[in-house]
Amino acid sequence: MTELNKIALKIISNGKGILAADESNGTMTKRLDAVNVPSTPENRLLFRETLFSSESMKDCIGGVILYDETINQSVSSGKTVAESILESGAVPGIKVDTGAKVLANSVEEKVTEGLDGLRERLKKYYEKGARFTKWRGVYNINKFHPSKLAIHSNAHALARYSALVQECGMVPIVEPEVLMDGDHSAEDCLSKTSEVIKKCFEDLILHKVDLTGVILKPNMILPGDKSKDKISKEEISSKTLECLKNSVPKEVPGIAFLSGGQSEIQATENLNLINKNNNTDFIMTYSFGRALQQSALKFWSKDIKNIKGTQNIFNHRAKMCTLAAQGKWSSNLENK
Ligand code: G3H
Repeated sequence: MTELNKIALKIISNGKGILAADESNGTMTKRLDAVNVPSTPENRLLFRETLFSSESMKDCIGGVILYDETINQSVSSGKTVAESILESGAVPGIKVDTGAKVLANSVEEKVTEGLDGLRERLKKYYEKGARFTKWRGVYNINKFHPSKLAIHSNAHALARYSALVQECGMVPIVEPEVLMDGDHSAEDCLSKTSEVIKKCFEDLILHKVDLTGVILKPNMILPGDKSKDKISKEEISSKTLECLKNSVPKEVPGIAFLSGGQSEIQATENLNLINKNNNTDFIMTYSFGRALQQSALKFWSKDIKNIKGTQNIFNHRAKMCTLAAQGKWSSNLENK
């Protein structure tokens, strides 16, 4: 077993999942504005420290993805955020892309930037304690998209990123997110997501990335949020499994889904069924942002000093997600 494979397994084994707390300052400001809390560096840290010092960090959370601002902050004990996460038993990670920008010669498609100077930035993050990283490519579905140009450009960037991250001794999370926005069917989502993921792995292999030291972070297969196509939970799980079975090389140890705008319960329920029906050798877990933090953030915003109350809500959510990552969740557990 290589060191990278060990790190990947530590993050995602035994029902553990990833807390995606890597919202950029822009995104975090939108989230805080929505609950009427001023978006200052202090408040962003206070909310995150509340989550990172929760009890569920030990049994449920295998890794935390941080944003650049947060990895450079210290918690109230004086330890750095990365040290405090490590102490809780989870692995600190860092988002290293610099965002999705308009792709030249495309119509409103995006390519994710951040490769220039990445090797040097990675070395600094490693010194700060990060042992895994995240890079998100983003694709939308309509009559013309995702285009070959967008699929190729993002796969190329994800592969170059992954190779550099592994060179630096860290595990890359490869996140090609096919967005839920739009009126496309689940069948469209299945075919486009499969095409996107296959191309990513084709490029990762070309760039000699060690696939045993990679975690894939995909979307689940769902109809668009404005689609008339209503499908059952069973179909979501079977289509998601079909996609991954046919597109992901078997060397990859695990898959950690993003929640992508699903509600907390929807994301948990779908993950649970995927695990119940999992007919692959891949570990299937969560790397949720909103589906782990939404209720906790809402509660916290009413009284930002209520650390215990906020932690209770986060602990419950993390526990539900961890049960779902083992196919052991059921809706009646939500109210206990
Ligand atoms: O890149 C996306 C985030 O890491 C996951 O966020 O679960 O809210 O989609 P989400």
